This record gives sequence, structure tokens and C-alpha cells, in this order.
Amino acid sequence: MTPLLDLPHAHAAGTGWRSLPAGQQPAWPDPDALDAAVHTLTGSLPLVMPRECDLLKSRLAAVARGEAFLVQGGDCAEALDAVGAPSIGRSVGTLQQLATVFGYMMSLPVVTVARMAGQYAKPRSSDTEIRRGVELPAYRGDAVNGHAFTAAARTPDPHRMVRVYHQSAAVLNLVRAWGGGELSGVEPALAALRKFAATAPERERYEALTDRIERAGGFIGTGDGWHTPGELFMSHEGLLLDYESALTRVDASTGHPYATSGHLLWIGERTRRLDGAHVEYFSRISNPIAVKIGPGVTADELLPLIDRLSPHNDPGRLTLVARMGAERVRRVLPALVERVTAEGRAVAWVCDPMHGNTIGSPSGHKTRRFDDILDETGGFFEVLLGLGAHPGGVHLELTGDDVTECVGGGCGVGFDDLPERYRSVCDPRLNWHQSLDLAYRLAEGADLLRPPGLPGAAL
Ligand code: PEP
Ligand code: CO
Repeated sequence: MTPLLDLPHAHAAGTGWRSLPAGQQPAWPDPDALDAAVHTLTGSLPLVMPRECDLLKSRLAAVARGEAFLVQGGDCAEALDAVGAPSIGRSVGTLQQLATVFGYMMSLPVVTVARMAGQYAKPRSSDTEIRRGVELPAYRGDAVNGHAFTAAARTPDPHRMVRVYHQSAAVLNLVRAWGGGELSGVEPALAALRKFAATAPERERYEALTDRIERAGGFIGTGDGWHTPGELFMSHEGLLLDYESALTRVDASTGHPYATSGHLLWIGERTRRLDGAHVEYFSRISNPIAVKIGPGVTADELLPLIDRLSPHNDPGRLTLVARMGAERVRRVLPALVERVTAEGRAVAWVCDPMHGNTIGSPSGHKTRRFDDILDETGGFFEVLLGLGAHPGGVHLELTGDDVTECVGGGCGVGFDDLPERYRSVCDPRLNWHQSLDLAYRLAEGADLLRPPGLPGAAL
């Protein structure tokens, strides 16, 4: 095992970020409680090890080179309460099934990354929420406060970060325990895909596609031989800098600091300013990292950000997650891809078709249309392929459960159905059926472009 130095946490990734503007941080009311929580986390064990992060970085380097595809997904926000092993298992299973379909579609090995075991902190558009004249702090994720609309629940409590650390360890343990078990590998994924196809309204077409996937062998466990069935990495938005820095450790063999709260951390669209605390902290850690970019970003803004976060331009270090919205992806993304490619920057391009497509429903629920999600993903592939670049992956908010949070898809969730099983405390997720529907629709589209007689051939 790689030994870890016990460097003081605050110095492991520098302290420079502390003097810079940090967006989206909670207003912790009790500084002593914050110090106590940070102290506890500083003395806690790492959740992931540097060599695992390095392994993921090498996988993502293959994505950046066009030799692999990333499937990343999970909850918008994980919950501390009301979690069950079966539900976590269904989400992990869904990711494996998606990996099988996308592996077939792209004829490439798939890197599978969950938004899991750490995705507990949320950026919000407003610091407060007003209901019937009562104003309370906004819900910022279970790492910060409770979702219930009471003053007690909404008061930020730093001890929640300690609870999140322990919960993350438990989730990670569960997923690692399943590692080579019944949920992973091509066979269980294919069995689930057959079940999905048999119950889909597009049954005939989807069963034929499932046959083609099966004949192609499923790329998840094959590819060029490096991909281990069931290999799953953990990711979350590195939003709470007190939490992340307290869990930063130095790898004794290299002297490099790593965030040990998860394998891959990303910077959100709202906290990616070049002179901000998040970019400073992320520039110091050695994990593979990602940045979300929305439709407002320009190439002139993006290039310095890439250079700051990936100064050695090594593939796998930096993944760009475009979340433009269906309506804008074809208009905004080309100039960015063109310029970044022309300037020789080695990044992986990934599509988040969720966050640019959020709408309100008549019932007051936040929702997303399946058709918009499909359209943005299709637009992403068109743009990247049209420019001779590699569409490197998808980043989805999903669950393996039968929730009613997004509308549309073959299972036909309508606006009226949303209240029935709307469980997300934050953004709406694709359910199991909608997640697979998305992958099948994209894979069908890709099949239409293939030369005949070449199942699973490269696009
Ligand atoms: C998210 O991934 O849940 C999120 C908040 O994304 P973004 O930063 O792109 O809005
Ligand atoms: Co979200």
C-alpha cells in the first residue's frame, strides 16, 4: 500500500485558496463547530488512494485520446437518510448497463464513474428560499443542512460533513464489496438489457439492438484488455473547500497532494472563475479533475482555465463537461471545441445533457424533458464528430429506481405523473427505463450510420 505522509491538512494543497473568493460556501454560524468538524476530518482515514486516482487518470487519458468512452452518472444530490443498499445497487447496475450499450455503440472500452460516495453538496442560485413569506437559508445538500423547510433543518451544521464522510465510506465499502460480484460484468448487464427491451414500447427494435449488442460481446469487459469488469470510480463536485482540504493528503512516494474524498472531483459551472478559491485548490491536487462549462463560456475564458488546471497538458488530467442545453449545444460548442483542439490542448470532452435543460412543471416540480436530453446528447455527438474530435462521454443524473422526475421517454412519464414518485431533493433524474432508453436511442442512431455488416464498428 502507498504510504501517506501525515502533513498538516491545511498545507497539503496549499492555503492560497483561503484568501481567494470562494463561491457557494455555506455561512456556517458557529466557527468553533466548523473547527471541530475540520479537525475530525483532518485526522480521518483517506477514502481513496492516490494509485486509484492515477489509474482513473490513465483511463481518462484514453478517453482524451479517443480510445475510450466515459459513462458518468448518479444522483444530483445523495441523501444521508433514506438510503438503501438495493437502490445503490440498482444505480450501479444501471451504470454498468449503460456502459455496455455505449461500449457497443462506440466500439470502445468504457470508463465507468459514479456520482456517488461524496455527492452531498450543492451550489444554489439563491442563498435563501422564501415560502409563504418565510425566508430561510437555501438547502445546500446534506453535507450542509437539511431539506425540511424549518429554521432548525436549514441552519448549516458543519458536523454534517463528518456524517457525510462516514456515509461516503459506507457507500464506497458497499460498492467495493460488490466489485467482482453479481452486479458487475457483461452477463448481468446483458440480462438487464434483455429485460428492458422486452418491456419497452419499442420492443421489436430494442430486442434486435440487444441481439446486436450481445453478438458484439459487450465492450465493458473486453476492449483492448485493460478494462476490468465491474471497475467503478467515484466522483463528486468538490464544492465544500473546508471538507476537501481537510481530506487532502500527500502521497509519500511522490510528494503530490491528492483529494482523498473521491477519485474524480469536478468544479461546477458556478464556481469555475479563474481567480477563485476552487480553481486554486483544484490546481494543487493531483487527482483527475473535471470542469462543467455552460453556454456562457467563451474560448478566451476557457483556454486560461485549461492551462491553469492542466499546466502540463497531460491527457486524463482534465475533462470538460459541456452542459449547454439542447437549444444551444449546436451553436455554442463548435467554437469551443475548434479552438481548444487547434491550440493543442489535451482534454476529454463529455456531455452533461441535464443541467442546461431544467424546466418547471405545472405542478411546480423541477423537471427535464427526455427529448431535450436526447437532443442535446445527439447535438454533442454531431458537433464533436463534425469537427473530427472525440465525443468522450456522457454525464447523467440518473437512478436505477422507478422515479417520476423527468418527463417523456418510452415509459411515458407525463407532467401529471411527477408528484407520484418524485424523490430527488435537488435536480430531476432519469429513471432506469429512461436512462436505457436514452442509450438505446443513441446507439440505434449510430447503427444507422455504420457500414452494413459491421456490428459494433467504430462510428
Ligand atoms: C450538478 O452537476 O448537479 C450541477 C450543479 O451542475 P452545474 O455545476 O453544471 O450546474
Ligand atoms: Co444537478
